[in-house]
Amino acid sequence: MEICQTERLILRDLEEADWKPVHSYASNPEVVRYVDWGPNAVGETRNFIQRAIATQKERPRRNYHFAIVLNAQNRLIGACGIYVSNPGNREGWIGFVLNRHFWGQGYATEAAKALLVFGFKKLNLHRIFATCDPANIASARVLEKIDMQREGRLREHKWVKGKWRESLLYAILDHEWKEPKNINKNFKMIATSPPA
Ligand SMILES: CC(C)(COP(=O)(O)OP(=O)(O)OC[C@H]1O[C@@H](n2cnc3c(N)ncnc32)[C@H](O)[C@@H]1OP(=O)(O)O)[C@@H](O)C(=O)NCCC(=O)NCCS
Repeated sequence: MEICQTERLILRDLEEADWKPVHSYASNPEVVRYVDWGPNAVGETRNFIQRAIATQKERPRRNYHFAIVLNAQNRLIGACGIYVSNPGNREGWIGFVLNRHFWGQGYATEAAKALLVFGFKKLNLHRIFATCDPANIASARVLEKIDMQREGRLREHKWVKGKWRESLLYAILDHEWKEPKNINKNFKMIATSPPA
């Protein structure tokens, strides 16, 4: 089990019992407006959780789907992940999604910063990227706040929900990333399983 703890959040591996709070955001059309999946039926959410759990057994492990849990209330408020898409080039990407009730409080930025720590310190990545729909202002803003640089616009590169979609491409390199100064005080990575 991988666990990252930040000031307000716990990022931990998803578990079977998480399906209800996951489904409550994954079935909301407003939440999934700019992503490639959803709104989910119950079976789709349960399949997602099963696939996420299966990745925990990969060796080497390349896919980390984390629940985002509010530490104070032990409440699952969203999910995020980091995925090593090109191990040879030490490249990976991140993504995040939150229940609508928890938008606008800096939680996605806090989770995304933790993913960068995890990606650069634990997974030893050289480059971490993310994409978002150009209309997804909140997501683009999160990527800017974690110091990713906008590298370009992928024009009509995917057919999603009946339309050709564009994406903004953002990335940060290991030598550009400033390790948070409070990493020892407010951030902990706790691996309870052997490293991948
Ligand atoms: C994207 C998402 C995760 C952001 O979560 P969040 O916790 O609200 O993000 P944060 O609070 O950390 O930061 C959001 C930033 O966007 C800004 N923002 C949000 N909507 C905005 C708008 N319409 N116009 C301008 N800025 C906006 C906020 O003001 C904040 O920036 P600031 O701190 O400079 O004020 C959340 O909106 C979500 O779950 N969306 C649906 C799923 C999704 O699209 N995921 C991303 C896929 S690429």
